[in-house]
Amino acid sequence: MPPAPAAVAGRTIIIGAGQAGLQVAVELRQAGYAGAVTLVGEEAAQPYHRPPLSKAYLTGEKSLDALQMRGQAFYSEQAITFMPGLAATGIDRAARHVVLADGTALTYDHLVLATGAAARPLSCPGHDFVGVMTLRSLDDATALKARLATARHLVVVGGGFIGLEAAASARKLGVAVSVLEMQDRLMARAVGPDVSQHFATVHRSHGVDLRLGQGIAEVVGEAGKAMAVRTTAGDTLPADIVLAGIGVTPNTALALSAGLPVSNGIVVDEAQRTSDPRIHALGDVCAFPAPHGAGLIRLESVQNAVDQAKVVAASITGQPACYRSVPWFWSDQYDLKLQMVGLSQGHDAVIERGSRDENRFSVFYMKAGRLIAIDSINRPADHMRGRKLLAPGAAPVGADEIDTHFAARRD
Ligand code: FAD
Ligand code: APR
Repeated sequence: MPPAPAAVAGRTIIIGAGQAGLQVAVELRQAGYAGAVTLVGEEAAQPYHRPPLSKAYLTGEKSLDALQMRGQAFYSEQAITFMPGLAATGIDRAARHVVLADGTALTYDHLVLATGAAARPLSCPGHDFVGVMTLRSLDDATALKARLATARHLVVVGGGFIGLEAAASARKLGVAVSVLEMQDRLMARAVGPDVSQHFATVHRSHGVDLRLGQGIAEVVGEAGKAMAVRTTAGDTLPADIVLAGIGVTPNTALALSAGLPVSNGIVVDEAQRTSDPRIHALGDVCAFPAPHGAGLIRLESVQNAVDQAKVVAASITGQPACYRSVPWFWSDQYDLKLQMVGLSQGHDAVIERGSRDENRFSVFYMKAGRLIAIDSINRPADHMRGRKLLAPGAAPVGADEIDTHFAARRD
């Protein structure tokens, strides 16, 4: 039998057992990688799905078991060594080993950095009071869920995905909610103004006290416990929980200490390789070349983590590897399923189809007469079709073709 190519043997160590890290292990085995695979995660839990943490897990509609990505048997069946509860603390690139918090040094042929991102904490006075929280991990969600069970007032800082999903979940649980968003519209990072406007209306219709153009000045407390929030507009709002959903920062410390280039994320090429060809990075933590040569971008989504994992596995096993995917994302708030595909930044025209009154519409973003992105609300067929039509290499879709491709369709 001919020897296996060098690229498919050896030892791969994956740091970070989240969406991206686990998926690399899965994809390596699917690609026929015969070497040892070790998955190191600092969290104690088995790899789990994060999206339900702010949605069905928070409301109690989904149990802990339903969050698990794979059953116990998967790891032994696939010969993946899973090391939970251990953080990687250093990389010695010359010796090709990674050091863990307990002092263990693991030697690698390939190292994969899938360390994700961390929720940005508040920094205002009172930020360290009991009841001031963030939502990123299972532990965070479990703690928030427990507090929501007895809380009366939640103040959410940040009208992005995390804040709004948590707000919707809290309203379902009967908790009074205020949302402070410093920009003049919701989810501005990801959706267009019409969609922001619609979500503002829906949140208000569910009783959310939504304050745009306002931030938090101070958490007011007694005996170290949050009691209220003072806003930048000078109002005081009661709060037994203050949830910060003000964005994330990529976990780049390990890469930085190893001397790898970092620029709002670990810098990688189109094959997810860092400047060191033995080290790949992917998922929320990496900054990769944007399609159409527009610099580096960092995406925070399940789709991005999963698609980049395929590229990492291909690169490690010596297959053609190039990340070219159309980004997509979703968010569930109340009975609204928001689905986004493509990147709408830089659009110069919009076309809207469907009915806002019925909560079923899509906004098509055009740039130089060409479709670049779609935000759909309760129109999953538009989203799915958009993923095909916006895929790399697909023919451009002009404004006059929108009705042919989309509006005639009914979900
Ligand atoms: P992560 O999933 O964050 O995993 C990184 C892992 O690395 C973590 O477990 C971390 O503890 C570990 N780690 C970090 N440093 C070290 C170290 N030094 N040593 C060992 N381990 C380390 N995306 C969507 O597409 N749709 C949604 O609806 C959606 N909803 C979301 C809701 C919530 C509440 C959250 C938090 C995220 C949501 N996301 C959603 C985003 C999505 O979950 C992330 O984009 C995805 O998890 C990124 O995967 P990742 O593996 O890069 O990072
Ligand atoms: N006061 C009020 N609003 C603020 C403040 C502040 N001090 N700082 C930031 N914001 C607002 C931003 O204007 C933005 O609208 O917080 C919002 C943060 O939104 P996102 O960037 O979407 O971040 P977040 O909601 O925390 O979600 C983080 O989790 O759902 C996943 O992957 C998804 O990228 C997302 C990540």
